[in-house]
Amino acid sequence: MTEPEAKKKRPDTTRLQGIARAYTESAVLFAAIDAELFTHVRNGAVTEAALVEATGLRAIDVNRLVTCALSMDLLRWSEAAEPVLENAPDVDAYLVKGEPRYAGPWMTFTRPDVPKWFEMTELMRSERGTHLGMYEELTVESAKKYHQATSSIGFGAARRFVRTVDLSGRRHLLDLGGGSGAYSITAVEAFEGLRATVLDLPPVVVATDQYIEDAEVGDRVDTVGADFTVGEFPGPVDAVVMASNLPIYDGDVIGGVVARAFRALESGGEMHLIGEMLTNDRTGPIDAAMWGMNELICGSLGRSHTEAECAGYFTSAGFTSVEVTEFVPGVLSRCTGIKP
Ligand SMILES: C[S@@+](CC[C@H](N)C(=O)[O-])C[C@H]1O[C@@H](n2cnc3c(N)ncnc32)[C@H](O)[C@@H]1O
Repeated sequence: MTEPEAKKKRPDTTRLQGIARAYTESAVLFAAIDAELFTHVRNGAVTEAALVEATGLRAIDVNRLVTCALSMDLLRWSEAAEPVLENAPDVDAYLVKGEPRYAGPWMTFTRPDVPKWFEMTELMRSERGTHLGMYEELTVESAKKYHQATSSIGFGAARRFVRTVDLSGRRHLLDLGGGSGAYSITAVEAFEGLRATVLDLPPVVVATDQYIEDAEVGDRVDTVGADFTVGEFPGPVDAVVMASNLPIYDGDVIGGVVARAFRALESGGEMHLIGEMLTNDRTGPIDAAMWGMNELICGSLGRSHTEAECAGYFTSAGFTSVEVTEFVPGVLSRCTGIKP
């Protein structure tokens, strides 16, 4: 190794310092959402003076917030001769209040968990954890609030699902842990002749029924209040989807759900398991790893699963043509299989 190469590779503390203070970025994002910073920018408050007026914050704090937002690429300078502030494209699409795609409720949904993340060591030593974790204490009210948050991104994911998976000719979709009903509602809207059943915990389906009513698809989507970790599923169906539940449970539970879904399917039927999956050597994505750790925080016994583990649940159940593909790059994968 030449002298300059050796110098380049010498470790320093930069990366570790970045990780140690990564929480500061979450905190700034939450504060910016609280102050409706991006909404004000979209509405024309594109200078710090205008933002002081719009937010009611001190000039010094607006200066700090804008500086952080610029450095995190949440805000940008426009290319005008006299540059003004503008939202980064993803911020403008998802963090402007009042817009249909506003995802503020999802972005701040896990904020109440923040103190517990910093008690992780004690939580691990306490060896606690229950089968259903955060879902153990769910009420109709908390389920409604939860799905206000999940629906703000769930319907987008569901639109991607119907663009990616052709369910034409299918008659009945079973949506396990369907929450707001995003996948079922979007699927029956996209595929003529398709019906769907959302199976979720009893307090949740009260919220689901409202989404179904609002979408005016009550004649094609129904709900079943049940725990998908026990009992046989309603059937026969010819398609099953289970989305964004994966790290809540360990391998035995997910394997059991996939096996019961297999039994509920007609021959030739298909199943899609969508979730945050790890690469087989567990080196990422970080988001999939962190959702597994989130289960320590929420008090369940779940963990992250690798793509190969998910494919294994399918083949053990009897599915053929099993494959794992990217669904939302870097975030969600999709494991599919066909019942012979
Ligand atoms: C993150 S949400 C995903 C909702 C929906 N699939 C989506 O992608 O928008 C997880 C859902 O799984 C449901 N769930 C978790 N454990 C369950 C269980 N044991 N039985 C039934 N539903 C369950 C939760 O109630 C919640 O609605």
